Amino acid sequence: MSITARNTPVVGTPDEVSYRLEPGSSLVGEVQVPGDKSMSHRAIMFGAIAHGVTEVRGFLEGEDSLHTLAACRAMGVEITRGAPGEVTLVGRGPAALSAPRDTIYLGNSGTAMRLMSGLLAGIGLSCRLSGDASLNGRPMRRVVDPLNLMGANIASDPDGTPPLVLSAGASLEGIEYTCPVASAQVKSCVLLAGLHATGRTIVHEPGITRDHTERMLRGFGVEVDVDGLSASIVGGQRLQATAIDVPGDISSAAFFLVGAAMTPGSRLRLPGVGMNPSRDGVIQILRLMGASIGIENPGLSGGEPVADLVVEGTRLRGIDVPRELVSLAIDEFPALFVAAAAAEGTTVVSGAAELRVKETDRIQVMVDGLHALGARLDATPDGAIIQGGGRLAGGTADSRGDHRTAMSFAIASLIADAPVSVLDCANVDTSFPGFASAARNVGLAIAEQRQAADA
Ligand code: S3P
Repeated sequence: MSITARNTPVVGTPDEVSYRLEPGSSLVGEVQVPGDKSMSHRAIMFGAIAHGVTEVRGFLEGEDSLHTLAACRAMGVEITRGAPGEVTLVGRGPAALSAPRDTIYLGNSGTAMRLMSGLLAGIGLSCRLSGDASLNGRPMRRVVDPLNLMGANIASDPDGTPPLVLSAGASLEGIEYTCPVASAQVKSCVLLAGLHATGRTIVHEPGITRDHTERMLRGFGVEVDVDGLSASIVGGQRLQATAIDVPGDISSAAFFLVGAAMTPGSRLRLPGVGMNPSRDGVIQILRLMGASIGIENPGLSGGEPVADLVVEGTRLRGIDVPRELVSLAIDEFPALFVAAAAAEGTTVVSGAAELRVKETDRIQVMVDGLHALGARLDATPDGAIIQGGGRLAGGTADSRGDHRTAMSFAIASLIADAPVSVLDCANVDTSFPGFASAARNVGLAIAEQRQAADA
């Protein structure tokens, strides 16, 4: 199978992709969502520094995780591909990684950049990490500061954005660090640096964030201590290769959960979805809005809880989203904004300022796009106030190149009275390659228009 990831910047502009959707309809059938993006990144990074052969199944064949894979290859890791979703890494320990010759290009992926900066700072490799225009505009001081406190030598642009330039030579010391933001990427970055630092590295967080790093490191035989909102690791531990089955991504399932939950007549089954309790906020929030979501066949996959989800359409109601659920659903708010537009009554989202520094300013992009489709909603500094109403007029929404806003506007067509066009959708491939055909199979009337950049 050919690898589509590149380790150098894409020359020129990517293909222009837009969606055109007919209004109305409901979602019926089954959708197998692709592998979890967060876990796919980690499986590759950890397999790359482990000792022995790591077999990954269910790997997300999306551009983000393929960039991580290509980066590890560029540092000399032997990686082979089998059937779709199957990756084999031959790990020879962190010392076998070599400094890459060129800039490591990480595309649109904040997770790749933030986790890799910790991992590589710990190993002590010189390199330069860069990305696309969105990633190169995202805040990196949140990782540069703690890493430099540990003794690393990392420079960003003066405004704290990429590229990041890591200079080898420094050996790291463990620190006790209190994260100013609830971010699994920051926590993971510091823990991964701590893996190769002297002594113990402790991270305290202001709120619950996804714990895939802690769980997966344990699967590789590393001791990670967790006590409430604190996680710690002792440096110098060796990762032993393992096998990882990556479950379906609940963040990709979210578009279908919302789409079916808000349209009476829908009935969807989503098999094998990751149900990590630090990620299930979307289910909790939708249930508070009155959604009917069943959880069947619970099991374990890749050290994580997994289940089949069964969702049936109904009329949703607006709610004040509890602040403690925000970090458990941080990637699902674009879709939840659509659920709120479909609901009866007002929905208030607050405590979600982090949405403004994702792949786009997701508060503004969703407010602008839903407004263009006829919804009544206003942005607040840390969220939005969305007046539900059940129906949208239709029209054109600009995703601004953000995969999650693009898929959210696509499902908004289910409650529209006229066609919906969604612009700038190429980045859907970062997390959900094949979204349009998966959605079409269960009843979304979506046509994908792809125009080659140089056409
Ligand atoms: C991720 C953590 C989240 C999430 C991102 C993936 C991860 O970011 O938004 O899509 O894999 O650790 P923050 O932890 O910075 O909120």
